[in-house]
Amino acid sequence: MFLKWNSKIGLAKMTIELVPEKLSLRPKTRTPELLVVGGGKGGVGKTCFAVNVAVEVARRGWKVILVDADLSCSNVEAVLGVQCRTKLDEFFYQKGTKTLDNLLFPTPYENLILIPGTTGLLDVANPRYQQKTALIRELRTLEADLIVVDLDAGAHLNTLDFFLLAEGNGVLVIAPEKTSIDNAFKFLRASLFRRIERFYQSPELGVLLKRSESLKSFVDVLRQSDVFEYDDANRISGELIALARSMRPRIVVNRVVNAHEAHVAAMILKKLLRKDLFVEAEFLGFIYFDSYVSEAVNCGTPFVVRYPHRRISTCVSEIADKLGFFSS
Ligand SMILES: Nc1ncnc2c1ncn2[C@@H]1O[C@H](COP(=O)(O)OP(=O)(O)OP(=O)(O)O)[C@@H](O)[C@H]1O
Ligand SMILES: [Mg+2]
Repeated sequence: MFLKWNSKIGLAKMTIELVPEKLSLRPKTRTPELLVVGGGKGGVGKTCFAVNVAVEVARRGWKVILVDADLSCSNVEAVLGVQCRTKLDEFFYQKGTKTLDNLLFPTPYENLILIPGTTGLLDVANPRYQQKTALIRELRTLEADLIVVDLDAGAHLNTLDFFLLAEGNGVLVIAPEKTSIDNAFKFLRASLFRRIERFYQSPELGVLLKRSESLKSFVDVLRQSDVFEYDDANRISGELIALARSMRPRIVVNRVVNAHEAHVAAMILKKLLRKDLFVEAEFLGFIYFDSYVSEAVNCGTPFVVRYPHRRISTCVSEIADKLGFFSS
């Protein structure tokens, strides 16, 4: 047996310059909830969702850290209307033990701390494996009630590893369109396969995985392959399905015209994930399409602050409720 279980616009004038501070975060809970926001497709609204839900939960009195982990094109600062003196690049440039201490920026929003993104320069957009692992390790030590992590589009290995910070419970933001649903499926599939690769350390398994359209077809290949004894193939298939079932991604449908459209899009994605990947996803909520979102972005003010009475803000509020972050 060769498989080994490894269980171990007006923008400038609205921008506020931030300086880091020594912070004493006193969370209400010990283990922070992680909301890692991905989804594959670019421009679906991942950053707008991440920023607004972070501001909304912080407004309710919970300690929130918002992390811009979009290593290629970070724009959380722009959406939040702030500018940080130092960028995440500093983390990667540190010699020896790396720390996020100098990158915790208090924002104009009470209880909300920001860890800014990178400058997007090439070497930082592609950190070495050890640098990325160090960042993930540091993120895990942060003390807060909620840590919101905004990710790149696409399914780059870095993005997948950040998504797996939440152990398979990340958020998939989609638009109610076939292409977006398809991208989210592929993103989740890549995350699951990455997870499997990390649990088992076997080049043979990696090669077989990369040839598979779905976990279902992979399991079929495994059972028919003469590489494995019948019992081994069955046992490994069972382990893989259990690994898939331990993931519980959450779906947010953005830019919808009505609730029905959101439910249909989420249902299609849920069915695909269940059928092909054995993954059960949960519908977390939806946000209407509203031109005031881009107006808020251009003003550098999160829409939940600028337009608290519009339906888009109610949607974010309902998602915060669903996450269990109620007003105190
Ligand atoms: N609910 C919405 N209604 C209308 N426009 C929206 C909505 N959500 C987002 N947008 C618009 O889409 C733009 C892109 O959103 P955002 O930057 O959040 O996407 P993203 O998924 O983070 O993109 P990227 O993959 O490039 O990081 C926003 O600047 C905003 O103008
Ligand atoms: Mg973004």
